[in-house]
Amino acid sequence: MRKVYAILGFTLLVLILIQFFRPEKNLGDIDTHDDFIQVSQVPDTLARIFLNSCYDCHSNYTKYPWYASIAPVSWYLNKHIVEGKAHLNFSSWGIIDKAKKISLLDNICEECSDGVMPLKSYLLIHHHAALSPQEIAAICEWAEKEAMEIMKSE
Ligand code: HEC
Repeated sequence: MRKVYAILGFTLLVLILIQFFRPEKNLGDIDTHDDFIQVSQVPDTLARIFLNSCYDCHSNYTKYPWYASIAPVSWYLNKHIVEGKAHLNFSSWGIIDKAKKISLLDNICEECSDGVMPLKSYLLIHHHAALSPQEIAAICEWAEKEAMEIMKSE
């Protein structure tokens, strides 16, 4: 019995100690003029989808659930945010070059169509972030049009 208490005590101690290692939160400026929705003039219905389903990992501002401050959950979320932003940061869309934008627009359609984005682990908690086939079709149709516009632009 003593051994069990020792193990429980040790586990508790570790859980307390890891709380001191907090990743910095992703709480930057939402409303920058390089934002995707503004720069590419994303129509309202689609803008709502991107804000709701993608911006938590792909922008400078994350809406955190209450348990997001608790390690190791905080580490897990932080990893997705850092990686997500490294691949695609909607907050700095305005400063991405044309070719990269076009390829990202193509990937946005592809990742959504393949059911890869939003990440499955995210959907477990954010049911409202799941995309319907109609929403995916609308994203793809718009993304293709926008890629054409960018290609034609100076
Ligand atoms: C829970 C976090 C999370 C959410 C929510 C999320 N993503 Fe991602 N996304 C990632 C991560 C992490 C990566 C990089 C690793 C990978 O591809 O799995 C990524 C990669 C991508 C890429 C590939 C970028 C490239 O380099 O071409 C695209 C495109 C993308 N996401 C689009 C979206 C879209 C669109 C949504 C919303 C419908 C979305 N993501 C929602 C975390 C997320």
